[in-house]
Amino acid sequence: MTGVSTVVVPAGGLGTRFLPATKALPKEMVPVGDRPAIQWGLEEAVASGIRRAVIITAPGKDLIKAHFSPDPELEAILVGRGSPELADRIHRIGRMCELEFVEQQQPLGLGHAVLCAADRLGGEEAVAVLLPDDLFWGTPPLLAQLIRAYTRERCTVLALRRCPRDQISRYGVAAVEGEGPVFHVSDVVEKPTPDEAPSDLALMGRYVLTQDVFRALSTTAPGALGEIQLTDAIRAVAGAGKVVGVEFTGDLLDVGTLDSWLATNAAIVWRDPDLGPALRSRIEELESTGE
Ligand code: G1P
Repeated sequence: MTGVSTVVVPAGGLGTRFLPATKALPKEMVPVGDRPAIQWGLEEAVASGIRRAVIITAPGKDLIKAHFSPDPELEAILVGRGSPELADRIHRIGRMCELEFVEQQQPLGLGHAVLCAADRLGGEEAVAVLLPDDLFWGTPPLLAQLIRAYTRERCTVLALRRCPRDQISRYGVAAVEGEGPVFHVSDVVEKPTPDEAPSDLALMGRYVLTQDVFRALSTTAPGALGEIQLTDAIRAVAGAGKVVGVEFTGDLLDVGTLDSWLATNAAIVWRDPDLGPALRSRIEELESTGE
């Protein structure tokens, strides 16, 4: 028993950093290797002991729900064509955990998206949050590392990674005390300038949130970019209660922009035993001909 069985997956964003590819296609459905980005996220959650996902979508993003819906006709066609393994993979996509969908009616920010899940959470002491823009690569899964810290500390847990100063203003940043890798977090600031950043420890897209963060969220006013920021609600809890941050082990691969998505695809396909050799020989060919 982990004590954390539900993950909230905000997937309602507009994907403006990845236009025009994401004009009609939800950015969470952009393929990475052989599956959409959001499927990698859910697989990480399930491998971390999660049994239920609440996915926050937005109007017009029905493809996400379609991807996780059963498709017995497709499975039958695949079996008929002699691909039972593929049929089995398709069968398991929507069954890896219990799934619920909530529509965020307006793009009011990450904090608002997370709050949209509040009435699906019942009396759970803590829930996980996973932002599907970042794929985790490593063992143990990142969410499992946070849940382990939660079971010891029984408070909100953040995923922290050291970040070069010139990139720090893309992230929430933590003020910390202690030696790590599990730090006491005394404050968090959303997208500070390099001069204002309280440290080089940036918040990455995984959280375990206790109920006090949801209470704080319900009274959080719009902050940076005019959006209701999750970081601001965590800040309120860090000031009044207890928050820890884990400097995790393993790699996070961004898929939220065209260039990061290209690099992540290359990294994932490179390591894939079936797809890797074709990519490597194509690169060799390009290098030798220069075309
Ligand atoms: C969000 C959070 C930010 C966090 C980041 C991680 O920002 O608001 O605190 O550091 O995710 O990727 P976004 O990427 O949505 O601008």
